[in-house]
Formats: sequence, structure tokens, C-alpha cells
Amino acid sequence: MESAHAPYSNFKVGAAVLGASGRVYSGCNVENASYGLSICAERVAIFKAVSEGEQEIQAIAIANSTGKPAFPCGACRQVMAEFAVDGMEIYLVSDEGVEKHTLAELLPHAFRL
Ligand code: THU
Repeated sequence: MESAHAPYSNFKVGAAVLGASGRVYSGCNVENASYGLSICAERVAIFKAVSEGEQEIQAIAIANSTGKPAFPCGACRQVMAEFAVDGMEIYLVSDEGVEKHTLAELLPHAFRL
């Protein structure tokens, strides 16, 4: 989260993905002056994991700079579904503590080809 590049929204996000190998990959949101080119922390972390050879993701933890929990956006949920193990866990980390959810709960009926 501290590495986030978020000068437009001032909403800094950090994510940590746990791969099936046991390795952890972190990510932050990276915004752009051309707003639509910005990318969420969750997708940065997932794409780092996949580009390092991870094929399956067991869990993701997400934090943001407000101190309050924030759910991952719909686009990131669909990207998670591509690589999620059954029962993939999503942890929202904030000043209020840690909230545990599952991807199945947050994204029922994911799109699949
Ligand atoms: N953002 C994330 O990094 N993850 C989310 O799940 C939702 C939003 C980022 C995108 C943008 O840089 C900022 O938060 C405000 O939308």
C-alpha cells in the first residue's frame, strides 16, 4: 500500500496474494493521468504471481489507506476467478481488524468460457 501511485484518488491500496506454491506476491494500485489506464492493487498482485509461474491462488489480503475495509471491485473478482482454488479466501484488512470472505460469496456465477 505504501508503494501505491494514487495521486488522483488519494486512495492507496495494497494486496498480497498467496500462491499454491506458498509464495506471497504483493501489489499496489498504479494510477495514470489518463485515468482509464489505472490498475487495481489486486490485479497487480495477481499478475505478478501468474507471471512468476503461479497457476493457482489460495488467498488474497487487501488493505487501503482509509483504515476502513473495502471490497475488491468486480473486475478484480473476475480476474481472481480465473486462478482461484476452490474455496479461495479474501481477507479485508483494516483498522477494524480482519474480515474473512470467500470468492464464491463475493462473485457467484463468475463468467467462464
Ligand atoms: N482500487 C484498487 O486498487 N482496488 C479495488 O478493488 C478498487 C479500487 C484503486 C483503483 C484506483 O487507483 C483507486 O483505488 C480509486 O478507485
